[in-house]
Amino acid sequence: MNTSAANPGELAGRHLVLGMTGGIACYKIAELTRLLTKAGATVQVVMTEAATQFITPVTMQALSGRPVYTSQWDGRVPNNMAHIDLSRDADAIVVAPASTDFLAKLAHGFADDLLSTLCVARDCPLLVVPAMNRQMWGNPATQRNVAQLRADGIETLGPDSGPQACGEIGDGRMLEPEATYEAIVAFFAPKVLAGRKLLITAGPTFEPLDPVRGITNRSSGKMGFALARAAQQAGAHVHLVAGPVALATPWGVWREDVQTAQQMYDAVMREASDADVFIGVAAVADWRVDHVAEHKIKKTAEHRMPTFSFVENPDILASVAAIANPPYCVGFAAESGDLDVHGEEKRARKKVPLLIGNLGPLTFGRDDNEVVLFEAGGRTPLPRAAKQALAQTLIAEIARRLPDPSIIS
Ligand code: C5P
Repeated sequence: MNTSAANPGELAGRHLVLGMTGGIACYKIAELTRLLTKAGATVQVVMTEAATQFITPVTMQALSGRPVYTSQWDGRVPNNMAHIDLSRDADAIVVAPASTDFLAKLAHGFADDLLSTLCVARDCPLLVVPAMNRQMWGNPATQRNVAQLRADGIETLGPDSGPQACGEIGDGRMLEPEATYEAIVAFFAPKVLAGRKLLITAGPTFEPLDPVRGITNRSSGKMGFALARAAQQAGAHVHLVAGPVALATPWGVWREDVQTAQQMYDAVMREASDADVFIGVAAVADWRVDHVAEHKIKKTAEHRMPTFSFVENPDILASVAAIANPPYCVGFAAESGDLDVHGEEKRARKKVPLLIGNLGPLTFGRDDNEVVLFEAGGRTPLPRAAKQALAQTLIAEIARRLPDPSIIS
């Protein structure tokens, strides 16, 4: 699965205990540690004896920048209570990879080594990332143990499905480091959109002129993808309709790729009545040629300059806003000037409650953005921020404006 990479600062101030148990997936934890520290988390690695057979504590110390602990009797902890001290200020313990044996120990409350004792003595959330052969995962005892862990409020991330180190194919392999990272970030995000269905468009559209040429625009899709990721982390089911962009699908997001405005319209209208929120971030082409040439248009002596006639594309945002019981609709507007005039005019014309305006030439392709919220009550400027951080702010702003789902109109 494609995923996004770590964003600097998004785990700033978080302290994680990263518990490693014995399994070949230990090699993935080197990369996971790098992603977590890049995002600003402090990572305290604790390894079982078996884990040290797969990757050395020296490697994990170098990557985490902290001493690694493997034994309950480690004299480096001043009060000799490593099993309590190491997780004292932790925001979570993440056990990755979590072996069959370790899941069984956790399910039954065993505390016979440093990591299992830390888990039993913890005062913080526990996340486990299982990694094992498909038969071990499918074993009824393992499934019973996992069900018990879930009932005990322990979060299970994965496992994934696919080729395994043993050569077999099936369920049980550990999530890739990027996916594990994304799941950890999502775990900490406030669940302001829990259970909501969010439909979102992103990127440009491509309107063909002939089989090789077309009209498109400079939208990179970054803002829409950042919003899709933030909404997923906030607990929403996200359906992302993307124009042609070179971006990885955010973890946990359902993505549908389209090329033209008409295809984007069709994809959106199929889902719109089922959505709680629609965000139109895509830079949709306003026009398409009324006749796409079947063959490449040639430059000939008589026809050096082709002429095209255009027809208007449907306005996706206005169409969604016009359906019976529409989702909460949010538009985006990239303007090259006079944002205040155009932003509010566009919001009123498209009949949407919220329009987010940005200065197009200053945002296209960049990693940061500065926007103004336009709504009936007035305008609210937000400070310039990285697109991912801004996306989290915008998702919180949108969530605040949603009708309470318990109120049936
Ligand atoms: O009119 P303009 O293109 O500036 O409006 C921008 C907003 O309208 C964006 O939210 C964009 O996704 C949406 N839009 C649309 N369908 C179109 C044109 C724009 O949904 N055909």
